[in-house]
Amino acid sequence: MLSKTKAVVHRYNRLAANYDERWRGYLDSTLSKALEIIGPCLDDIILDAGGGTGLLPDLMLRNNCRFRQYVIADLSPKMLQRAVKTHKGDNNISYTLCDSHKLPFLSGSFTTVVSNSSLHYHQNLEQSLSEFYRVLQPSGKLIIVDWCNDPLYFKLITRTLNLTSMPYLRPISSKDLSAALNATGFKVEHLEKWYFGIFPLMILKTIK
Ligand SMILES: C[S@@+](CC[C@H](N)C(=O)[O-])C[C@H]1O[C@@H](n2cnc3c(N)ncnc32)[C@H](O)[C@@H]1O
Repeated sequence: MLSKTKAVVHRYNRLAANYDERWRGYLDSTLSKALEIIGPCLDDIILDAGGGTGLLPDLMLRNNCRFRQYVIADLSPKMLQRAVKTHKGDNNISYTLCDSHKLPFLSGSFTTVVSNSSLHYHQNLEQSLSEFYRVLQPSGKLIIVDWCNDPLYFKLITRTLNLTSMPYLRPISSKDLSAALNATGFKVEHLEKWYFGIFPLMILKTIK
């Protein structure tokens, strides 16, 4: 597990410099959907787990969607460095280098946890979900956007990538993700699927 985690860190350290530009279309599609579902958040203390270069809070602020505090947590130091640059001067945003499987936050620290396009790299989905559950306050929200490993053609693509260049990929079907969320104690309130090019995507809004 450790070497797979290291491979993910290596991948994103390498991609960080061009990340925002290279996946612009995909990022616009996933992040604008997250923004739509997040709703009003003036009093929210938000954890962005696998928050990368900080594009979601950037989009939120540009759309006048303000929050009390926002923590961008990520495994990759280089992705976080870009986030720091983007949010220079935003005093209610902070940065934590950590693994979502073991979050360095007290229980009940957040009103909202967001995970955008990160879960398919997690080696132990159940462990990350139980960490998200632990750090949320009662009735807190968890919003997940990720690849949706439901269509057969996409299963074949992700399986091939898994066996060749990306052994650390753990894509999830909507059924398995919903079952894991329910088993952790989350109530799934909203599940929506859409496509960006060949990418089948899903967003789930859940409540603790
Ligand atoms: C595709 S990027 C998404 C970044 C950001 N959420 C966005 O939508 O632009 C995936 C991010 O998840 C991070 N990541 C992957 N596994 C992680 C883990 N176990 N804990 C924390 N971050 C992780 C990667 O370092 C990378 O920055």
